[in-house]
Parts: sequence; C-alpha cells; structure tokens
Amino acid sequence: MTVFEEQLNERAAEAEKIIQKFLPKEEGYQKLVIEAMNYSILAGGKRIRPVLMLEMFRVFGGVQQEVVEPFMAAIEMIHTYSLVHDDLPAMDNDEYRRGRKTTHVVYGPGMATLAGDGLLNYAYETALLSFRSSAVLPQFDGDIADRRVKALQILAGKAGIYGMVGGQCADICAEGKAEATEEELIFIHENKTAAMLESSMMIGALLAGASEAELLEIEQAARKIGVAFQIQDDVLDVTGDEAELGKPIGSDEKNEKTTYVTLHGLEDSKKEVKRLSDDAADILSKSEKSEEFLIPLVLWMISRNK
Ligand code: IPE
Ligand code: IPE
Ligand code: MG
Ligand code: MG
Ligand code: MG
Repeated sequence: MTVFEEQLNERAAEAEKIIQKFLPKEEGYQKLVIEAMNYSILAGGKRIRPVLMLEMFRVFGGVQQEVVEPFMAAIEMIHTYSLVHDDLPAMDNDEYRRGRKTTHVVYGPGMATLAGDGLLNYAYETALLSFRSSAVLPQFDGDIADRRVKALQILAGKAGIYGMVGGQCADICAEGKAEATEEELIFIHENKTAAMLESSMMIGALLAGASEAELLEIEQAARKIGVAFQIQDDVLDVTGDEAELGKPIGSDEKNEKTTYVTLHGLEDSKKEVKRLSDDAADILSKSEKSEEFLIPLVLWMISRNK
C-alpha cells in the first residue's frame, strides 16, 4: 500500500465515523425501512464525497468541524440513495453493490425504493443539524449571505432535476440509442455524476469561508473531476475486476448505455480522463494546501481500479 493509500484509508475511516453518528436507530414500526437504509449506507464504499468535502473545508481554513459534519453525512446519504435506486430492476437492474447483494435483492424492490426515499429525506433532516452548532460564520458574498443556507441550496440543487436526477433521466433516455450525441453524453456525465462532486467540494469550501469567486472556480474543477470520474467508471465497467469493484462489470453493455467508451473507445477515454484531471489539478493548485492531500486524491480518483 502506498503512503497515499494509507492516508486515504485513514480519511475514509474518519468519514465513516462521522456518517455513523448521524444514522437513524433501527426501531419502531418503520424498523424495516431503516434497516434497509443502514444496510445500504453501511456497506462501505469509498466515501469520496464526504472525504472531499472535509478536505476542501480544511484547505480553505475551516476550523469548526461540527458545521460541516452533518453535510458530510448528508451527501453520503444522497449518494447512497442514488445507488439504491440506480440498481433497481426498473433502472440498471444490478445485483451487487459495494461487495454485497443490492438492497432490492435483500429487502425487495418496494422496500428498496422506500430506503432510497428515506435516505434522501433523512439527508436534509441531517444537514439541518448544522444549525445546532453555535459557530458564527462570516457572511458569504454571493446571493445568500448565510453560509449554511447557501450550503443547503447547493446540496438540494445539485441532487435534483438540475443535477443528479436530471442526469439519470438523460441516462435512461439515451439507453439503446445508437445515435446519442456527444452533447447528450456530456450532459449525462456532468449531471448524474459531476453534480454530486461539485456539491461536495463547494459545500466544504463554502462552510470554511470561500468567496463566491472561489466557489465558481471550485465548481469548474469539480465538474472536470466528475466527468473524468464517470468516464473512469465506464472504463472500469469494461476492464475492471468485479471482486475489486464490488459491483458487476458489463452493466452498461447489458443496458445498452451510451458511454464515453461506446462513443470514443477505451484508449481515447483514458486520455480524456487524464486531460480532465490534469486541468482540474491546475485549477486546485492555486490553493496553497492542495498539494498535501487534495490533488493526490483527485489524481487517485481517476486512476483508481475500484
Ligand atoms: C458510483 O460512485 C456511482 C458513480 C457516480 C460512478 P462511487 O464509485 O463513488 O461508489 P462508492 O460510493 O464507492 O460505492
Ligand atoms: C450512476 O452511474 C450514477 C448515479 C447517479 C447513481 P452508473 O449506473 O454507471 O453507476 P454504477 O456503475 O451503477 O455505480
Ligand atoms: Mg446507471
Ligand atoms: Mg448503475
Ligand atoms: Mg457504471
């Protein structure tokens, strides 16, 4: 294991503890849906979104971590819900996720649908706990002065129809469509995947005190990282190892998905991943502390095998 991988494992373990603090108790007549929610979110996963959020918070000089922790748990809840629904028989119809049977295989499609709904709603219930902190944050110079309210706006917007849900819609619409265009493909990647990475990185920096101008730059960098991350996901869907990935390969071909790989082939896809992540690293390198962990993390995310 490289020094970076050890560092990443430590950061993921730190995120894991924070996520666990906010999970609901499995009790009451709603016990089954909560069990299904926790089954999905506790299955592991790389925890890249909360790790990125906390790192951005640190790079931008954030100190009162209790402000960002509820948002870290919330972003992982929204991400996990998107995976539970993405795996449903009515969507990608996949049986493995994060090295376990998918939620619908274990709990049935009805309960898995509800577990996704529960995670999405609980994400906002959790993010709101950020207001319990007595920390006083400096005013934001953008459209909404209160940084926690602005963070909620980003969290909600990037997950919705003008973000991840919009991207998943275009992804389904492009299924089996031989003539899907480059423009549609970029829309899919920027929305189904990049939006949630934009949200993670922007919220971390915002709560630490970043300015509107800095936030816009972070959004640009995160968009490139997100598109590269999805191209790499599509490459791994062809060349990856199921045991290492913890999810099936060949899912895109089975569902006749349009991906960067189907449009441009493996070699050009790998080149595009490299180009995008180098561009993103250039943008992020403006921040002094980005060399310590942030840039190595971005470079790892796109060269990953899992
Ligand atoms: C999978 O995301 C879905 C995509 C957006 C490509 P991750 O690769 O981050 O999945 P986990 O959270 O590690 O399981
Ligand atoms: C899904 O993309 C992105 C989401 C918003 C969940 P994929 O369908 O390629 O993700 P995997 O390969 O199932 O993780
Ligand atoms: Mg999908
Ligand atoms: Mg899928
Ligand atoms: Mg995939």
